[in-house]
Amino acid sequence: MLQPDTRRHVRIQSITLQGFKHACHAMLYARSEEKLFRRIPVRYAVLMQMRFDGRIGFPGGFVDLQDCSLEDGLNRELYEEVGCTLRLSDADHMCSHVTDTPQKLVTHFYTKELSLAELHQVEAGAVSAKEHGLEVMHKYAIAMGLIRVPLFTLRDGVGGLPAFFATNFIGNARDELVDALRHLRLINEERLASALKSVTNRNE
Ligand code: GTP
Ligand code: MN
Ligand code: MN
Ligand code: MN
Ligand code: MN
Ligand code: MN
Repeated sequence: MLQPDTRRHVRIQSITLQGFKHACHAMLYARSEEKLFRRIPVRYAVLMQMRFDGRIGFPGGFVDLQDCSLEDGLNRELYEEVGCTLRLSDADHMCSHVTDTPQKLVTHFYTKELSLAELHQVEAGAVSAKEHGLEVMHKYAIAMGLIRVPLFTLRDGVGGLPAFFATNFIGNARDELVDALRHLRLINEERLASALKSVTNRNE
């Protein structure tokens, strides 16, 4: 799954890397009892966003020199992009990736479980965020912003998660999504594997 120029690092090792920029992104999610078409269990509401560049990624961004820590940078970006005042901490860190090309970049990935009510608040507040309509919505005014990841697969075997996996992701966002769904057990392995397999088949 990982690109050849990408290595997994623990956060502590990667902070000390010289000449690398750092970026932090987060997956906010909540358990949901909701059913689509009163039939298909949603299971979890998992938030990603449609970015200004037409790719899908997680909210977050570059850590700046003014940020006192990785998490400070993450929380600032979450406020700018989603308007949410949640404070994530190092306890929410899940993994880091080191990338050499096209730029020397370490991406740090965080996950945070919310209640469904809290997640609804994040969604409702996101349209008032500073970067809504800018970084988080395309300048050509295609409707973009926070999106939910469909964790189900429709009867045609493509609609839902397989189709979602086949869309364009920024950087390592797709790998981060897959890792998080697996590690947090938001989806069973069989369903995940079959959704991933149907993407591979279509790309062949
Ligand atoms: P600017 O303010 O326009 O610089 O954007 P930003 O600070 O919000 O940065 P952005 O979210 O674009 O993230 C910085 C870099 O991290 C991007 O150039 C991508 O290479 C990478 N990136 C963006 N989103 C994700 C993501 O969800 N996961 C991972 N692993 N990398 C990402
Ligand atoms: Mn940003
Ligand atoms: Mn960003
Ligand atoms: Mn930024
Ligand atoms: Mn920037
Ligand atoms: Mn910015």
